[in-house]
Amino acid sequence: MKIAILKERRASESRVAASPETVKKLAALGCELAVEKGAGAGASYSDAAYKEAGAEIAKDAATALSGAQAVLKVQRPIVGGKDDEVKGLTKGMLLLAIMDPYRERADMEALAKAGVTAFAMEMVPRITRAQSMDVLSSQANLAGYKAVLDAAAEYGRAIPMMMTAAGRINPANVLVMGAGVAGLQAIATARRLGAIVFATDVRPAAKEQVESLGAKFLAVEDEEFKQAETAGGYAKEMSDAYKAKQAALMADTLKKLDIVITTAAIPGRPAPRLISEDMVKTMKPGAVIVDLAVETGGNCELSEPGKVVTKHGVRIVGHLNVPGRLAEDASALYARNVLNLLQLVIDKETKELNIDWDDEIVKGLCIAHGGAVVHPAFKPEDKPPAGAAAGNGEKEDKTDG
Ligand code: NAI
Repeated sequence: MKIAILKERRASESRVAASPETVKKLAALGCELAVEKGAGAGASYSDAAYKEAGAEIAKDAATALSGAQAVLKVQRPIVGGKDDEVKGLTKGMLLLAIMDPYRERADMEALAKAGVTAFAMEMVPRITRAQSMDVLSSQANLAGYKAVLDAAAEYGRAIPMMMTAAGRINPANVLVMGAGVAGLQAIATARRLGAIVFATDVRPAAKEQVESLGAKFLAVEDEEFKQAETAGGYAKEMSDAYKAKQAALMADTLKKLDIVITTAAIPGRPAPRLISEDMVKTMKPGAVIVDLAVETGGNCELSEPGKVVTKHGVRIVGHLNVPGRLAEDASALYARNVLNLLQLVIDKETKELNIDWDDEIVKGLCIAHGGAVVHPAFKPEDKPPAGAAAGNGEKEDKTDG
């Protein structure tokens, strides 16, 4: 079985879907590997290192894809335009990538039309057996760490307390909003740097986790809070009444803070808006906000995707693809997630693809197969019928999920 590893073509994507380590393991499994020339450059993996691990270096994507049964990518292929990546994919090919299916339904349709079997790596169910394949966790963990370093780089003061002959430097007060995978790593990193750390979340389970890391938990702990976690472990969208109480608590807290890291997310929905412009106005001059949710709409009203801006004296950091800012580690972990998933679908005896369509993991992450979008959450018939939308003059549903 031949596996192609392609160079990422989207702007700001420096990661790669296989490392020399995972190439070596896949070669040992009996796979033939073709790595597109320069695919690992952004993550400091040389062509020579892939070659030594057992891969062929293909001069371009078409050569890598020729005869391949599977293709490994970080980002979903670009659909259309001069950089179109779908035309190189062939019917029946297994494609593994982060797909962003809630926001990019048209691209999912295009992949289905191309006849590929598209697995969205971020849709791996959060069950114990799939933890080693969980790209949301592997990437969010690095993003949480890097967010604190990005904040420290923008902050005009030191983070730890220092006693010096010239006087005392006070420790920074840091708030982490959203204590999931990224948030918990941000708390741990800020604590390591010597900050006084506070954290907030809407899921009750987060409280103990925050406190076990030595941070203080701040939240509106009412009846709605007690019910805010879904069976899948994610947060629900909160009511307007809850949001108002939470905003009042945060408005009071933000005035006292030096650094705020926001990571709050609800799967398939725009990010909850937690910091308004009015709140930013009350913050200390020189304070820093790092908005890790900027790609899904932002937790802060003033954050701008891909930019670091100063508004009302506050530095607001909106870097895109934060895991990609640690491309080597992010690629190494993503590549291991992909390897673990491939081991589930490659038959050890025949060394060919053998997908168990009844497997809970496969059902969770397969978006398109056999020419159609098959995931229940994204099937075209789940949208309101086009005729109905046209008939009543309303726009067709284009929400994120
Ligand atoms: P996420 O990226 O979807 O959201 C980040 C955090 O934002 C979450 O903790 C969420 O509760 C919080 N949030 C949402 N709305 C908020 C609001 N209005 N105000 C404040 N905070 C808000 O979540 P992530 O990081 O993917 O983790 C979700 C859960 O899944 C966690 O409990 C995590 O421990 C669990 N998990 C389970 C795994 C497993 O295999 N069993 C693997 C990884 C994570």
